[in-house]
Amino acid sequence: MKVGYIQTSPIFGEKRQNFKKIEKLITKLKADLIVLPELFATGYAFVSKEEAVPLAEDFNGETAQFLIKMAKITGAIIIGGFIEKEEEKIYNSAMIVSSEGVIGSYRKIHLYFKEKLWFFPGDKPLKVYDIDGVKIGIMICFDWIFPETTRTLALLGADIIAHPTNLVLPYCQKAMVTRCLENRVFAVTANRIGEEKRGSDHFTFTGKSQITSYNGEILSSAPRDEIYVDFIDIDIQKARDKNLNEYNNLFEDRQVEFYYNTDKPK
Ligand code: ACM
Repeated sequence: MKVGYIQTSPIFGEKRQNFKKIEKLITKLKADLIVLPELFATGYAFVSKEEAVPLAEDFNGETAQFLIKMAKITGAIIIGGFIEKEEEKIYNSAMIVSSEGVIGSYRKIHLYFKEKLWFFPGDKPLKVYDIDGVKIGIMICFDWIFPETTRTLALLGADIIAHPTNLVLPYCQKAMVTRCLENRVFAVTANRIGEEKRGSDHFTFTGKSQITSYNGEILSSAPRDEIYVDFIDIDIQKARDKNLNEYNNLFEDRQVEFYYNTDKPK
């Protein structure tokens, strides 16, 4: 299975220009799975909910149409971030599409920093999509710091985790090695580059998009500050064997009766 990412540098609020740049990068690609960054068409650093709302869409919006067109060109399943609108609520979401249309969306459950001021936290369960026998889980950016997110997707059967990001902290790429190793899943972390200085915020995005293997190996690592595209072949069957060695199985060896499992920390 050929999987990869497009590391971009979105211009804040300029959806059409951002679409055009991706279209140029994508035209010669043939792949099975392409992951784009979080909020790849809108930019990230909003100053108010009022600013984000006009950029929000549903599954009939221009971002969905664009992604479906890209899926037709490449033959790939595409996952990319967008602002999802449902009635009065907006979500930091990622859409999964094929050449035939929108398959679904994931609404980010762990909001970072001021995202909490404009986005509603995800209100749908974590889900794994079975696409022609490949099990794809989705999480967005800051979800990485909660190991429960990856674990839940892995326990739901994910072979590969599509991980659109707009990373601003320097830890995620290293953490994904552990997230993948402890769950024996693949992950494609598609990050962005560039800076956004808006209101009182100044974000520098950390690039270094990454494809991480089920055994913790880094299969692809993008530069820190360049637009970059990379694709590799992976064998997803490797993610279905949870044996670490002849004595240890990462799922069967879990000792759930010893784990603290209530809603709030003591
Ligand atoms: C982030 O979750 N975009 C830092």
